[in-house]
Order: sequence, then C-alpha cells, then structure tokens
Amino acid sequence: MKNKIQITRTQNSRLSTLDFNNLPFGRVFTDHMFVADYEGGEWVNPRIEPFAPFEMHPASMVLHYGQSIFEGMKATKNQEGQPMLLRPEMHLHRINASAERMCMPAFPEDLFLDALHALVGLEADWIPSGEESALYLRPFMFSTDEFIGVRPSDTYKFIIFTCPVGPYYSKPVRLIAETQYIRAGKGGTGEAKAAGNYAASLLPAQNALKQGFDQVMWLEGPEFKNVQESGTMNIFFVIDNVVVTPYTDGTILKGITRDSFLHILRDKGIPVEERIITIDEVVAAYAAGKLQECFGAGTAAVVSHVSEISYNGHLMTLPAIESRKIGNMLKSEIAGLRTGRIADTRGWMIPVEIEVDALMS
Ligand SMILES: Cc1ncc(COP(=O)(O)O)c(C=O)c1O
Repeated sequence: MKNKIQITRTQNSRLSTLDFNNLPFGRVFTDHMFVADYEGGEWVNPRIEPFAPFEMHPASMVLHYGQSIFEGMKATKNQEGQPMLLRPEMHLHRINASAERMCMPAFPEDLFLDALHALVGLEADWIPSGEESALYLRPFMFSTDEFIGVRPSDTYKFIIFTCPVGPYYSKPVRLIAETQYIRAGKGGTGEAKAAGNYAASLLPAQNALKQGFDQVMWLEGPEFKNVQESGTMNIFFVIDNVVVTPYTDGTILKGITRDSFLHILRDKGIPVEERIITIDEVVAAYAAGKLQECFGAGTAAVVSHVSEISYNGHLMTLPAIESRKIGNMLKSEIAGLRTGRIADTRGWMIPVEIEVDALMS
C-alpha cells in the first residue's frame, strides 16, 4: 500500500441491521466510501469516509454535459473467508480507457488498487458468503466544475461505494433484436463505460419491455445486421459446437467477463471465434437446428441464458437451459474460481490486503 488514504470511520455502523437473506441488487449500501478529488491538475485528498449524500452545485458540469464514467466489479469471499477481487487491474485499465475517451483525467493505477483494498478491507464484514453472493463495487468519476459551457471540466470527483448483493437470480431472458435505435456506432462512445450510453439505451429497453421482452439485442446501424451486445452484457452464441461472440470494434464494451470466458474456452480447447456475426446468420443457424445456446456475459449475472430471440416478428425458441453445456460450464467456472473450488491457474483472484489500521491517521 503506497498511498496514504485518510480514513474516517463511521460512528453509526448499519451492519447490524443488514439482512443477509434479503439483499436486493443495488439498494443496500455499506458504511463507507472512498473519495478523491481532482484539482489543479492532480488527484488529491484520497480518503475513506462514512457513506453519505453530498451536495452538488446546480451548475456542476456533469449534470449538463454528462462527463461521467463508471465500473462495476465484485469482491467475494473464498471458502476460507478471505475477501478476493477478480481481475481488478482489468477494471482500472477500463476506467482509464473510458476517461480518455470522455476527456477526463486518468486515475492513478496504484491509488485505484490501494483504494479497493482499503475499502473492501474495511467493509469485509459486509461481504455476503455463498457462491453467488458478493460485495458489488461501484467506482465512478464525474466532472464537478461549476460552469455553463461545453468544454472539459477542470475538476472531478472519483468515488467508490459498495453494495452487498445476494445470488443474482438470472432467469432466462427473452431478447428482441432492435431495428430502430442503436446503442453505439463506429466513432462513438460504445467502448467507454460512460453514463450517457446507458441513458440512451433506456427508451429502446422500455419499448422491449412493453412488447413482452426482457432486453434488447443491439444491432449495428444503419444496416441493423451485425450483432453487438445484449442489454448491458456481451453476447455469446453456440452454433454447431463453436462458440461465437462479436469482436470488439470500438462499438462494443470490452467486457471483463467476456474476456475471462474467452480465456477459459481457449484453455479448455473449445472452438471459439471472435468475429462479425449477423442476425441473418443467427436466424439461419436456428432454422438449420444448429443454434444450441445464446447467453449474455457480464459481472452482475455472469451468465444470463437467452431463452428466446425475436427478430422482425420471427420468434426463435432456444434449447432448454439444462442442455446449455457451455453457458452452464462458464458460470460454474467463475463461481468456482471465486470460492477457490477451482484452482486459479491464471492469477486472476487477488486477495484483499487488510491493512486498514496501518492506514489510519
Ligand atoms: C454495455 C455493457 N456491455 C457488457 C457488459 C459486461 O461487462 P463486464 O463483464 O465487464 O461486467 C456491461 C457491464 O459492465 C455493459 O454495461
């Protein structure tokens, strides 16, 4: 731990009120948060303080011009009760890639990691045990200049807060291929985890719900042929025993779960292709009886099986979930790595160093 992080502990821990059997996703927040400020061209005053609302100036630039980026990751406990992080360096690289695209300052890599260790160490008792439970971590950065006018802000805040989450019950999802709106186009911000991307996805997602579907399958405009992602997950297909996922071309979020799956599949010698996949190819594979699986990949659910896909009024019903060898195997591999049931041969699981007392000043 290189960085001095000032820690102010809460005087009123809410931990005793926590019901570990009732943890709705994203609604329960732990006692502390990490905060740092960007002023005068540098990140200053890194600190952990009691989790609390903060005041914002009405002209805060983020509220008007949307310089706001975030990450989503999980801390879990292994079978010995040791808090662990899964590939945290991937998240720090991605938030800084997002920062670059949104004209925001990079956050120092060592401080990001130190902050995660210190915060998760401090909140370790909030980490639910159980294979699919976790402490969800939300690092984010936003502009804070009090100014009206479109330009990059000179000041920012970087915050990490955490939410205990129970097993993510991921019922199979019904997708509708979106042929009117796009999530991202070439040259746009699709590869950044930028708040505005999510705002733009709300209307099509709401339309999908109104039509009885859970999420949209994003297609690349203006042709609406190439498959991109599914809702807020990367998408995988298994066609004729080959795993296929769209390659990342700047319009697709470089998912860390996606990357982990590609490594696991290749290590197991399972044929996998990163390439363009069109909705027409999916329809043809289905018609030929070769579409064995489709699933979304992301930190929250890990694997979200797709049960049905609708495209231009044509409904494809995919094989039963129990038959989904690839999706079920990948979900179990990630859960096994997290608990320690499966040996971590790739060095992905990072034990949280609990040095909180050493940090107190
Ligand atoms: C648009 C989008 N695609 C894909 C993903 C999956 O990424 P990851 O596996 O890093 O959670 C996410 C979630 O972060 C997302 O928001």
